[in-house]
Amino acid sequence: MTHLDLPFIRSQFPAFAEPSLKGWGFFENAGGSYTCRQVIDILNSYYTRTKVQPYYNYPASQKAGQAMDASYTRLAAYLNVGEDEVQFGPSTTQNLYVLSHAFRELWDKGDEIIVSAQDHESNAGFWRRLEKTGIIIKEWSVDSDTGMLNPEDLDALLSQKTRLLAFPHCSNVVGHVNPVADIVARAKAAADVCVVVDGVAYAPHGLPDVGALGADIYLFSLYKTWGPHLGLMTIKKQIMDALPNQGHFFNAHLDRKKMMPAGPDHAQIAAAAGVAQYLDAVYDHHFPRPADAASPAAGPAEKGRQLKQLFQDHERDLLTTLLAWLKQRSDIRLIGPDDPELRAPTICLLPKDKSLDAVFAGLTAKKIMAGQGHFYGVRPLMGMHIPIETGVLRLSFLHYTTEDEISQLIGGLSSALG
Ligand SMILES: Cc1ncc(COP(=O)(O)O)c(C=O)c1O
Repeated sequence: MTHLDLPFIRSQFPAFAEPSLKGWGFFENAGGSYTCRQVIDILNSYYTRTKVQPYYNYPASQKAGQAMDASYTRLAAYLNVGEDEVQFGPSTTQNLYVLSHAFRELWDKGDEIIVSAQDHESNAGFWRRLEKTGIIIKEWSVDSDTGMLNPEDLDALLSQKTRLLAFPHCSNVVGHVNPVADIVARAKAAADVCVVVDGVAYAPHGLPDVGALGADIYLFSLYKTWGPHLGLMTIKKQIMDALPNQGHFFNAHLDRKKMMPAGPDHAQIAAAAGVAQYLDAVYDHHFPRPADAASPAAGPAEKGRQLKQLFQDHERDLLTTLLAWLKQRSDIRLIGPDDPELRAPTICLLPKDKSLDAVFAGLTAKKIMAGQGHFYGVRPLMGMHIPIETGVLRLSFLHYTTEDEISQLIGGLSSALG
């Protein structure tokens, strides 16, 4: 079995060599990850050499356009979707805002949508707001103890009037990984429904094979998958064709502009290809191809699957250690499942005997960068009766995290909890 070469991985992230960050354990990755050097290099090069209007017929402009095109091609291939199914927008929240407006034009009063109570507000609020326009909102509730969604509960919510189902691949406060492909199949067997999946908290743990998941629309934020501050969404071609234009009227025929009323951030779109370059570098390092190999080289979708496994195996080892330690503490409430096989390493906690502020300050004193608050995951927290004014403590890590950092975290928690 191939193991992740952490010194190699960390050499790809300039933050790990930055003196001012030395000694600090980074455990707020769910808020935004460190950026890989490939992305920083492209940004630097774009701003230095090609910061002109793209797609004109002179060299700097042509290179700028080619750099942007590469991001569509490269990321579509890793996500196993068509190049014309990839959209870059300012953020996932903005992408969902635009989508909610576009879909509303397709629906009649009395049509129904199902929204989960496990979502970050960005895949919840804009859909729920459509109630004011005559759309019926049905909520898929979470279990009040575990915060988990039960796919069987969906059956009672689906009807011939259901037009859309919105839920997360993984909640940014519960951490449970939902069985997306099963849920999509269940929903589609019952109704002619468009399925919108928020993958923001999942994708940083390995880019998903969106084609295999079957979601009609899948969204994630590149600034959490080691990249630039953009939202990426995939929209199945037939849905894109049916959606009404949300951009300028004269751009209605351009798929890249139809759902993007904001002008594109050219440099950041170009830099998104750096995420694919990073994955290439990790793949080539861990799965070198013998010079005399007879079989064809793996394609990007296959590479993506192998890399996801590699990242998640490492994350699961660290998660097993951390969860084992957390489980033997009677002075904390762990949010979400305590089985490392069922969840992502985005762990929310509630101290029982100490204030959150005190524990957070104790962690900071031990050079742990953690998160505190509701993280816009207010509906799942409310579903578990957790006050959103104080929120929870969040500890989240990625494949670049080391065993030593987990020990530092456990030491920090031990001293902060007392
Ligand atoms: C699960 C989840 N969904 C959506 C979002 C919103 O993403 P963006 O900041 O790109 O709008 C976040 C951001 O933290 C998130 O964690």
